[in-house]
Amino acid sequence: MARVPMPKRSAGHDRPAATIAPSILSADFARLAEECKRMVDLGADWLHVDVMDGHFVPNLTIGAPVVASLRKHTDAFLDCHLMVSNPEQWVKDFAKAGADMYTFHLEAAAGPGPDDWHALSPDAPHQAVVDLCHGIRAAHMHVGIAIKPSTPPELVAPYVAEGLVDMVLVMTVEPGFGGQSFMPQAVAKAAFLRNKFPDLNIQVDGGLAPNTIDRAAEAGANVIVAGSAVFGAADPAAVMKTLKSSVATAASSGKPAH
Ligand code: DX5
Ligand code: ZN
Repeated sequence: MARVPMPKRSAGHDRPAATIAPSILSADFARLAEECKRMVDLGADWLHVDVMDGHFVPNLTIGAPVVASLRKHTDAFLDCHLMVSNPEQWVKDFAKAGADMYTFHLEAAAGPGPDDWHALSPDAPHQAVVDLCHGIRAAHMHVGIAIKPSTPPELVAPYVAEGLVDMVLVMTVEPGFGGQSFMPQAVAKAAFLRNKFPDLNIQVDGGLAPNTIDRAAEAGANVIVAGSAVFGAADPAAVMKTLKSSVATAASSGKPAH
């Protein structure tokens, strides 16, 4: 069976499709294939895979070997979120494992030091980041760039403007753990990006649930990651449907993102 493609950017003014990506961080890792199949059967569009290295974030999760195992059990779009230092180090391994999207953190891509990201500018692309985007595409994966809650969205704009990026991930919690509270102030960054790039895939991640989705949807997010709200629900299909219809309603309202 063919693997699922990502929604196309429309090269126009239309927001790309509402896409729901349950985060497998909230799954039972001992029954991962089964849990993933259940989510896809219940309506998940993608599976979000949180990769943490214990260095960029204070937690350890999974790496390419788990993605390779999972790939044998699913054709789903594997949306890999690399919360790691030195993100260029894992591109080949994830491509080989069968990842579809490789989303790295902008803060980690400018150099190995914790303060290297201060070298990033809103006016010109940083060569290390450009090279990483090209490397991901050359490895036949989609390119995602993630920004933490304190990172200005202007810093990611040069890469989107140059056509190097398929998706921007706006974190709505500090990366590292599932089950944290949604940070409403972070969605202003999604709105900034939506108003600048009407056809960009904009993902939000952290604390998304039926009681927080409307803020993210009004801000223009169209790709919704949800871990605890979906895996912890008695009726995950109903939760995914609620998240998706909130995004679709906001997109069709005609109102500018805010
Ligand atoms: C946090 C991860 C998230 C996390 C979301 O660092 O990137 O994907 O699993 O979990 P919830 O939806 O529970 O906030
Ligand atoms: Zn994530």
